[in-house]
Amino acid sequence: MSLVPKHIKDLMPYKAGKPIEEVQRELNLDYIVKLASNENPMGPSKKAINHIAEILNDTHRYPDSNGYELRNKLAKKFNLSINNVVIGGGSEGIMSVIMRTFLNDKDEIIAAENSFIGFRVLANASGFKVNWVPTKNHKHNLDAMTKKINDNTKVIYLANPDNPTGTYFSKEEFEKFMKYVPSRVIVLLDEAYFEYACHIHDYPDSMHYRFDNVITLRTFSKAQGLAGFRVGYGFAEEKLVENLMKVKLPFEPSSLGQYAACVAMDDFEHLENSIKINNSEKQRLIDFFELKKISYIPSVTNFITLEFNTENEAFLFCENLLKRGVILRHLIGFGLSKCIRITVGIPEENDFLIKNIEELL
Ligand SMILES: Cc1ncc(COP(=O)(O)O)c(C=O)c1O
Repeated sequence: MSLVPKHIKDLMPYKAGKPIEEVQRELNLDYIVKLASNENPMGPSKKAINHIAEILNDTHRYPDSNGYELRNKLAKKFNLSINNVVIGGGSEGIMSVIMRTFLNDKDEIIAAENSFIGFRVLANASGFKVNWVPTKNHKHNLDAMTKKINDNTKVIYLANPDNPTGTYFSKEEFEKFMKYVPSRVIVLLDEAYFEYACHIHDYPDSMHYRFDNVITLRTFSKAQGLAGFRVGYGFAEEKLVENLMKVKLPFEPSSLGQYAACVAMDDFEHLENSIKINNSEKQRLIDFFELKKISYIPSVTNFITLEFNTENEAFLFCENLLKRGVILRHLIGFGLSKCIRITVGIPEENDFLIKNIEELL
């Protein structure tokens, strides 16, 4: 008899983008640009970093397990009660808590195929049945997802905007979808790239609706540039939050993470600059791909996915750029083997990317 359950033995683990230090060790290059993990290339809020020293001397203490300061600040900002706010070790950490809190017995999950790989790993590791629904034109197919709802459906996962395609579904699509979702089903709405998409007129900001069975998840890892601190947050109806708070690990996020997030929330200049530079640099990359006739998926986020004719073409593109010091993400693990995802960098990183693609072509 094996000690490891079959679904864990068969589990394909999460494979993150290569760290710069690893590529440096392997290839001995002077200049390396990492455009592989959708981080904010502008760095973290300087205000958060400059203030963090103030609490270093207190790090022998455990963090506030109730997360009062940060939850209260988030509640105020979104005009909610603190009892509607949950925080955790990245939004992925909260996803994991959601799975442990609400799934039971014969419950099933519905999610889009080729969507965020972190959720895929969590869902497969949970041991519960997952109904994967193919995407349509690189977008969530919400109609097809509602058709998969059955008596056992408990959680539906939606990423809006989606990763790795950068596409989004509209207000109209979301409103129609919610009409078909019974209130006994939890919709886990992952808005990790919210700040990049929220200005689009038909993007459905889930916080305008406030459905009792929708859990909104957001993060400080992307536009706020705090990925290394691991701070995510979620909004939901009080009863859901009360139970999430029982199951979550008491001391996540770390005290440094909670503190940095509180300061970063008030650093509007950093956020605005990050979005502004992302938008202009993304347009520059798109203009370049158009010029070079490289096929791409239009994206409302801080990354762009390129589509090649074959898996081999995509693999070679990624490998050749890696040898030149540009780390990109081949999407084979996401089930999109002909695709490469590129995080939009700061101007000098994109100059380096463009120069190297030009030399390769
Ligand atoms: C769609 C999506 N959701 C969640 C996450 C995880 O974010 P966090 O760092 O908050 O765990 C990512 C990170 O890449 C993502 O792309």
